[in-house]
Amino acid sequence: MPESRCLQGIWSSPWIFIFAASGSAVGLGNIWKFPYVLGQNGGGAFLVVYCLCLLLVGLPVLMAEVALGRTVRSNPIDTVNDLSERRIIHPAWVCVPWLAGITGFLILAFYSVIAGWSLAYLNRALSGDLIGVSQASASAMFEGLLDNRTEMLMWHSVFMGLVVLTVGQSVTRGLSAVVRLLLPILVITLVAMALYSMVIGNMSEALSFMFRWSWKDVSFDVILAAVGMALFSLSVGMGAMFAYGAYMSKRMSIARACTIVVGVDLLVAILAGLVIFPLVFSLDIDVQAGPSLTFVSLPIIFGNLLGGQFFAGVFFALLVVAALTSAISMLELFVAWLHEKFYMARLKAALLMGIAVWFVGIAVLLSFHHEDSKILFDLNFFELLDQLTSFVLLPVGAILLSVLVAWFIPGSMLQNEMITKQASHFQWWYNTLKYISIPAMVVITLAGWIGV
Ligand code: PHE
Repeated sequence: MPESRCLQGIWSSPWIFIFAASGSAVGLGNIWKFPYVLGQNGGGAFLVVYCLCLLLVGLPVLMAEVALGRTVRSNPIDTVNDLSERRIIHPAWVCVPWLAGITGFLILAFYSVIAGWSLAYLNRALSGDLIGVSQASASAMFEGLLDNRTEMLMWHSVFMGLVVLTVGQSVTRGLSAVVRLLLPILVITLVAMALYSMVIGNMSEALSFMFRWSWKDVSFDVILAAVGMALFSLSVGMGAMFAYGAYMSKRMSIARACTIVVGVDLLVAILAGLVIFPLVFSLDIDVQAGPSLTFVSLPIIFGNLLGGQFFAGVFFALLVVAALTSAISMLELFVAWLHEKFYMARLKAALLMGIAVWFVGIAVLLSFHHEDSKILFDLNFFELLDQLTSFVLLPVGAILLSVLVAWFIPGSMLQNEMITKQASHFQWWYNTLKYISIPAMVVITLAGWIGV
């Protein structure tokens, strides 16, 4: 495909891709979701399985997604259409980018509501409401937010507005500059918070919970949770990285870039765990608490710290920006497609998609309000979307994408793309994808579904 079809040009510096991809990977998944999934799945055993999943599933699939994006340099839907027109693959494969787009759409619907919680806490920090927060008042504050539908709707709308404006402006290039600044500040802030949390909290129990391995805690449920978490956290299986791969400079080794992204993503998630668990154990918060875990424990850190209001403001602002740099990658697939295929202005395309996501988000925020709002399988709408995306759509999307890349796209085409100097690197990746990642994802997903 001629490079002129790539409407935004190629990112010249290799680091631009690394920052943009890290911006997509690092977000609420690391700071809000990872700690509670770790809490619900037994701690240390989950962490080890999670690291293995990142290495044997997440990294190879991420490389596959980026390589495919860079090979054809177009949005995922047109890429697959183009490959099928060239008779390289069957047209039915177009289901893969569509599935990816729908997954991103559904994730964004609840992601935006949670990002709205972060905005609400940023607002509380700036107005001094976090001063002197205790465990009881932190729980009450969170419950109060869930009860206040108008406030949740307002922040969800503000966040979606920010997403639409950002995606609509095509600021993907500027995005990398923002992330370049954001990441180091976020890491330094988290390190400082983790140290403080370990001093005021129960460090030994937290460390033993997070890092102690125990065979009996490993089940297919735990492994499926780890695969789902790894795919979610690396933003793979739904076309976001594909889109960024399309802009990646040819000079960059895909293996190197993706390994850096995985490393950064894991580092931020572990730091978030080190911030939250010492408090959870010293305050007797339930480790299994689920989505409320981060939002109930974090304010306590700031509430009792000298200058805590300021640090809380900085932290929640960073969290909102991190969520924004992830959220825009969820909308990118459809926006790029509408723009490139139908010449629709990016802002119009973003607005169209944003309004649709906003409506689904309303159903999500209502599900937090009612205790008994179970709609299917004893799950409320939020839980249903969360589990549907993490345990079904992301794994299925990742499996189909990997099968497409590993078995249907000619290896020679990919080998050129990988541009690693040693052919053995390419073979290592190709074989891992074919013989480890795909079978592992299929077995784990099926076993998790039938509840082995
Ligand atoms: N990886 C992002 C996070 O950890 C979430 C995300 C999922 C982004 C899927 C894009 C696609 O917060």
